[in-house]
Amino acid sequence: MIILGIESSHDDTSFGIVEDTKVLLHFKISQIDIHKKYGGTIPELASREHVNNFYILIEELKTKFDLNKIDKIAYTSEPGLIGSLQIGYLVAHALSNLLNKDLIKINHLHGHIFSSLLIEHEEDKKEIIFPSLALVVSGGHSQIYELKNFNEINLVSSTIDDAIGEAFDKVARVLKLGFPGGPAIDQIFINNHYDNIINFTKPITPNELDFSFSGLKTQVLNYVNNNKDVDSQLVAYSFQKHSIDYLIDKFKKAISIYHPKSIILSGGVSANSYLRSQFKKTHTNYLIPKDKYTTDNGAMIAIAAFLKK
Ligand code: KG4
Ligand code: ZN
Repeated sequence: MIILGIESSHDDTSFGIVEDTKVLLHFKISQIDIHKKYGGTIPELASREHVNNFYILIEELKTKFDLNKIDKIAYTSEPGLIGSLQIGYLVAHALSNLLNKDLIKINHLHGHIFSSLLIEHEEDKKEIIFPSLALVVSGGHSQIYELKNFNEINLVSSTIDDAIGEAFDKVARVLKLGFPGGPAIDQIFINNHYDNIINFTKPITPNELDFSFSGLKTQVLNYVNNNKDVDSQLVAYSFQKHSIDYLIDKFKKAISIYHPKSIILSGGVSANSYLRSQFKKTHTNYLIPKDKYTTDNGAMIAIAAFLKK
């Protein structure tokens, strides 16, 4: 089964063509350079860019793939920026009408979860052993899901305020490290080692499996505002250590309650080096997407459509 996946929920415009779970083609246009001067995504600008970018990507798609070979078309229907989602829907709907192929709606977060099964070579095939527990961490979401099978995906817990990626981006902004902040903070963490880190306290949530990142972010902002000669590398290092340890502690607690047979890590923040290494220690059977499929992409939407009935 060959599926074309279309993603445009946030600031990436992307097409992916996937045969079962194997990626045949994957390309995208990121809007990071446009939004970075504002320190975050501007929805109105994002919609306008998606229109231009889809025009470019459709031209590219026509030259790279025989569209008659596509069996189905899948698109991100929710959650995301309303204007951006609607442009993706219009493109998906037009292509499905033109090619006379079924149209499938996919939840963006289910796409992130199943990005962990995308492969490029047949021999790399991976599988999820159910029940599974998925940690989805991105610029807009921090959630744990329980998967009973490909269709029964239940939300276990969520952030009660900011998403972890959003906190990385805000901390990076105050430290003047640029946008998006996650990769910049991660790079500082990789390049340094401190025995004595700044002791930020871990937020407490009414439901112990939920997350809260706004308190942690505020502590970092207060530290920067209230201290002279701040060592921004030490602040970045301490923030990454505390926020990832906090995430992992919550996930370990969820494992002890749900007893999954496998675990999945996904979303933009799953590119984080320390998170990846700590996550692998929590279970013997783990799935993590390849780096290039951690951020938003069309291939993850296509594979989700293939796996779900
Ligand atoms: O999934 P994604 O591409 O977009 C959303 O749906 O939000 O995630 C983007 C987020 C940004 O907040 C970015 O700072 C974060 O993922 N990110 C990272 C790393 N790479 C990207 N956060 C921490 N460490 C990284 N290495
Ligand atoms: Zn995403």
